[in-house]
Amino acid sequence: MATYLDMPSLDRGKGRTQPTLTDYTPLLPAETTGRSTDWQTALPVLHGLRASMRELRMSDAASLLAALSSEEVARFIAPPPATVAEFERFIEWADAERVKGTYVCFAVVPSGSDTAVGIFQLRRLDAAETAEWGFAIGPEFWGTGMFADCAELTVNFAFNAIGINRLEARAVTANGRGNGALRKVGARKEGVLRQSFRCKGQLVDQNLWSILRDDWRRARNISTTVVH
Ligand SMILES: CC(C)(COP(=O)(O)OP(=O)(O)OC[C@H]1O[C@@H](n2cnc3c(N)ncnc32)[C@H](O)[C@@H]1OP(=O)(O)O)[C@@H](O)C(=O)NCCC(=O)NCCS
Repeated sequence: MATYLDMPSLDRGKGRTQPTLTDYTPLLPAETTGRSTDWQTALPVLHGLRASMRELRMSDAASLLAALSSEEVARFIAPPPATVAEFERFIEWADAERVKGTYVCFAVVPSGSDTAVGIFQLRRLDAAETAEWGFAIGPEFWGTGMFADCAELTVNFAFNAIGINRLEARAVTANGRGNGALRKVGARKEGVLRQSFRCKGQLVDQNLWSILRDDWRRARNISTTVVH
């Protein structure tokens, strides 16, 4: 799936065609949604049962490198930043993009700790009121329920705070955990994007998953009526 590694500031690949910063437009202009853009100033802290999500900090670079640089994490995504300095550049870039309203990245912090062990990100896609989300957490926390916890927080944030209507995710078809995780939180598989991602030098297929705001709310018995 497109993750933090496809973001322009991390374009470390030689000769790859990458979007430039100007290709990104705001996640959703405030005039479209009438919603607060406070998240552009600073992300709130979101609390789940097993983890909290908060703004990335420069001091997260070392723990994120430790959590996300293993082969099992990077197997189906573009290679993560390879050094603390590269992670710091990514954190700096993520902060600047959030201020512009194009991108949001939460650090995942296990309950009772302040160490970042993963990230959940949202970035605007061209289609109206649509964003793509991506996620990676350290293998130590796989299968613990942390993913579902953070997914719930991120999806609610996207729909309620930003005003996104459609969330998309792409997962390499061979990525059992990634696809299983998306299915588990109620994403719907829309189809296969053939040879849509270059992974370890090979062009591979990705599943396209989506979650619509109304479906999400209906499944949770939350009213979809807008009260003015
Ligand atoms: C994606 C990620 C955040 C999910 O977190 P996780 O803790 O592994 O996810 P969970 O264990 O909660 O859910 C995964 C589900 O897939 C299932 N699963 C695991 N391997 C599977 C396979 N080969 N085929 C099908 N389902 C599989 C699991 O059984 C689980 O479902 P269950 O809880 O109903 O048993 C984590 O695996 C990760 O960081 N992976 C590396 C980065 C990545 O691939 N990111 C996603 C790109 S789409």
